[in-house]
Amino acid sequence: MRGTAGDRLLAHVQRLGEEHPPISVETVDFSVVDAAGLERRFGHVLDYMARVELEVDRNVLELTTMLPDPPEVDVIFYRDVWQPQETQHGLILDTLQQRLGRPPATTDLDRVGPKLRVLGALSHLPAFQDVCRMLYYLTGMSTERSAVLAYNLLHDGLADTGEQAIASTVVAPIRRQEPGHYAFYQLSARQLWSELAGWQRFLVRVMRRLSYAPVGVNNDEQRADFGDVMATLGIDEESDFAAQVTRVEMQLLWARDRGLRVPPYVARAFHDALEASRARAA
Ligand SMILES: [Fe+2]
Ligand SMILES: [Fe+2]
Repeated sequence: MRGTAGDRLLAHVQRLGEEHPPISVETVDFSVVDAAGLERRFGHVLDYMARVELEVDRNVLELTTMLPDPPEVDVIFYRDVWQPQETQHGLILDTLQQRLGRPPATTDLDRVGPKLRVLGALSHLPAFQDVCRMLYYLTGMSTERSAVLAYNLLHDGLADTGEQAIASTVVAPIRRQEPGHYAFYQLSARQLWSELAGWQRFLVRVMRRLSYAPVGVNNDEQRADFGDVMATLGIDEESDFAAQVTRVEMQLLWARDRGLRVPPYVARAFHDALEASRARAA
């Protein structure tokens, strides 16, 4: 990326680093009104989010495998801003769930799958690396937007049940850091998409359709877990969660398919999660 767009992105990343230091666990007020009630209602949501946040370590490994030669601004973002912030989000949420008597989140921090290794090998061709980079930005947008929306719902749910300390010293500070991540991915995605050739865009569309998964879903059990989170937070097939999560993806990749609100693979993924949750509960 060159010129002003690149400068703007770098300035954004530097500002994030300066204005949003990682949240210290000491700043959190873990006092709860009704520990058992909180655990029953939102315990699994805290667990899901703690896991996804802590797995940033694996995400960075995946990233460095898939993109052998990333732009410098990407490295500064994930190394100095993103990973340190997300790690603290995970630690705080995991501490909270353990204080409620739950086991710590079961995380996968270092297993990089064979598919990503193949992509990484192909990415030694710069034109192919740009395809992978675009997929990474799309995933980043979807993930970060999901996080903001889910934290909004969780925040309101906690406040409604009288858990004000947790709402305002755990969820609110975490939630404040997510839009900056989303903005990084969105700026990057828009810029890179404008630079891709037709065959690269074609590959991005095909690979995205084949690989899309909701945030944190890597297997069937996690799919059902995500469905549980959706159910607790009141996200269903009728809500506009999926549409908000993929608004920019829709604009960039599928602008020709007017009339669609959500890419079909996204609608299906969310539907499958709810189905998996219902099937497991039955
Ligand atoms: Fe986070
Ligand atoms: Fe984030």
